[in-house]
Parts: sequence; C-alpha cells; structure tokens
Amino acid sequence: MIITIDGPSGTGKSTVAREVAKRLGFTFFDTGAMYRSVAWQILHEGVDPADQKQVEELVSRFIFHIRTNPAGERSYFVGTHDVTKAIRTQQISNVASQVAVYGEVRQALVRIQRKFGQETDAVFEGRDMGTVVFPNADLKIFLTAKAKIRAERRFRELRGKFPDAEMSLDQIQMEIEARDETDSTRKLSPLCQAKDAVLIDTSHLTVEQVIQQIVHLKPKKKWPYASMKPFYFFIYWLARFFFRTCFRLKIYGREHFRPGAGILAANHASLYDPEVVSISCPEEVHFLAKGPLFDIPLLGPMIRRLNSHPVERDASDIKTFRLILQLLGEGKKVIIFPEGQRSPDGALQPLERGIAFLVQKAECRIFPVYVHGTYAAWPINQKWPKFFGKVACVFGTSIDWEEFAGLGKKEMQQAILERTSKALASLQHWYETGAKGSPP
Ligand code: DC
Repeated sequence: MIITIDGPSGTGKSTVAREVAKRLGFTFFDTGAMYRSVAWQILHEGVDPADQKQVEELVSRFIFHIRTNPAGERSYFVGTHDVTKAIRTQQISNVASQVAVYGEVRQALVRIQRKFGQETDAVFEGRDMGTVVFPNADLKIFLTAKAKIRAERRFRELRGKFPDAEMSLDQIQMEIEARDETDSTRKLSPLCQAKDAVLIDTSHLTVEQVIQQIVHLKPKKKWPYASMKPFYFFIYWLARFFFRTCFRLKIYGREHFRPGAGILAANHASLYDPEVVSISCPEEVHFLAKGPLFDIPLLGPMIRRLNSHPVERDASDIKTFRLILQLLGEGKKVIIFPEGQRSPDGALQPLERGIAFLVQKAECRIFPVYVHGTYAAWPINQKWPKFFGKVACVFGTSIDWEEFAGLGKKEMQQAILERTSKALASLQHWYETGAKGSPP
C-alpha cells in the first residue's frame, strides 16, 4: 500500500509522514532528501547548478542508498559518503530546488522512488508523489500552511540544528516563497495538489492532529484478489479447485511476491506449467501462447481474456521480445520459461539467453519459480494428461535487477543466467529435502 504526502516545505510534511509511517508499520521515504543528495554531490564536485548539461551528466552517475540501523534510524548515502546531516543546510535547499526542474534529474529520481515503492508498504513524502510518481496511490494527502507560519517553523528548526548560523526570519520567509514559486511554476511535475488528494491546512493544527487525521483516512487493506477481472477471477478459482482436488496442489513462498513488473522465471516440464504458475500467483499474470491456439473457437477468446498473448513462431523472435518488454513496461508480471522448451525427462535444463536480454532491457525483477510434479502428470511424450498426482509450485526470493547494475553487457547477461539457474536449483533442493520454513 502506498500513501503519498505532498506539499511545500514547512508544512510539517516530514515529521508527519515519518510518524504516520511509524504508526502504520510502513516504510518512510523522504524524497526531498534524494533531491538534496543530488545537490550535495553538485556542490561536492564543484559543478555549477545552473549548468544543466553538467548536472545531467552528474546525475547519470548518481548512486544513492539508504541504510537503516537496528534502532530504525535512517542514513542517506551518496556513493560512500554519509550525507544525512550535510543535506539539511539552506544552501543545499536552494540548489535542490534549482536542479529539481531538470528533466533528467527528475527521471532518475522517479525511477529510484518507484523501485522503492514496489518493495514495501510505504509513505512517500515529496512534491509530486501523488501527481506523477504514484498516480495510483492508495491514499493521497496534500498539506499546506500559510507562508509566514512555515517560515517560523523553518526558522525554529534551523536554529535548533545550526545555533551559530546567521539568519533572519524575513530572509527565510523570502527564501521559502521563492522556493514555492520555483517548485510550483516549473514545467515538469510542478508542486500541485492531485485531484484525488485530501487537502489538510496545517497552519493551526498540531502535528498530532494532522497525524491522527491521516491515520484515520488510511484505507483498509484490499482483498488481494479484488483487482482481478471477473472472468479471470472465475477461471482462476475453478482451475485452482481442479488442481487442489486432483493434484493436491501446494503453493510455497507467496511471501516473496512483490507488486510491480517482473518476470516469473519457471522451469518447464509440462503443458500444465502455465496454468499451475498462474493460479499459484496472488495477482493476475500474463503469459505467451502459440498463435494458432488463438484461432480455435471458444478457446482462443478465452485464453486471450486470461492474459495470454500470441507469439508467432517461438518465443525468441523480436516481436515477442517487444511484447514482453511492453508488458513489463506497463508494470505487469510475465511468466517466462527460460529453458525454452519442455524438459525431456523432467529434470532442470540449462537456460537460454532470452531471459538475460529481457531483464537487462527492462531492468526488472526476476521471481524464480520451481514447479514440481507436472512432468509426472503430463510429460512431453504423452498425448493425454493424467488427472491425478501431486503438484507443487514454489516461489523463491526475488532477484533485483540492481544486483547486476554496473556490470558490462556480456558479464551482466551471464550473471543473470547463472543467478536464475542457481535460484531454480536451490528451490528444487529446498522442496526435495522436505520444504521446511520459507523457500530460499
Ligand atoms: O522537501 P525538501 O525541502 O527536502 O525538498 C528539497 C527540494 O527538492 C525542494 O525544493 C523541491 C525538490 N523536490 C522535488 O522537486 N520533488 C520531490 N518529490 C521532493 C523534493
């Protein structure tokens, strides 16, 4: 679930968002800290913030990460530098606002933010969280407060942090107004309230009152299957009933599921595999099927409505790649059988390179899936399936694309193949040695 809290600085956004996240057990993301960290690197390298080209070059090398200590305190790192404290100066505020208007800067940071958002229930605080970064957020809040009140709050905050610094309230108010102007009049993702955001004016509210309002507005967790299309939902449960009854289907590792785009990389031993994998997933997934199947009356329209997409010859042609990349780009999950064809004897086979190209291009996550028992039920050399047996579907820990970032093209492909292949083998080992605890 994602909650976005947007608004100008001095509205109490950070304090409120941090506390709301804490009370709900969500992760808190201060996206202003990311823009500030870019500003820090600009000043650190002596780059002129007005030089858009140089700033964009810098942001292409920007490496940002967050570390949380056992007490739950977060530190921000640019490369190996801990910038947590250094990014809170007024100079950094001004440079952050100045460079936040550059398209490449925004794109780079939005990418990082969306990736963070795929991983956990989170509260995102910023300027464009509800309008641009997470237009489908579960709850959107927009905080405002009068400029004078915001300046007073900022003055007190800076006084506390930097008691020796010279500053005046008037000057801070002027800077706040100038920043509001830059943030809300810039062409790209200007600071503005999303149409479906709840507006809260914090001028005369205590922090606690604002937190209470937001916590009460939090929507109830949706039933995981609520977003399935009715037809998909119906067939999903029908097929699940069939596999549970006839094949005692067991599903393991659904806790490893994450929202957002990804490749479900499964071993392939039987025509039962696409069905078993899709009904084991807690959300709608997409898969590929041979073109001629779509011409069969009744079956064709039916599989189309079940998110299968026709491929012409085999699954390695360029059109198929484009199709998969498009689906991933739309945030969907796609089942791929990276072994390329069904196993002749039920054992795991070496992987073909296709999956490595896809992950490299789409920069997406891989969900390794081990399917057991489908070979015995319907092997490649048998025309008709059996309608009994024992089938299991095991989801492993997902593999982040970031694991491979920084590697050269060829090395990256090799690493993706080896990593996926190892993950499938270790899921098989886990299952065959008793399936204890959570799959690796
Ligand atoms: O919230 P803050 O003061 O830490 O943000 C610093 C600057 O970063 C702010 O002037 C505008 C920019 N920013 C942005 O453009 N978009 C965001 N989502 C967050 C911050």
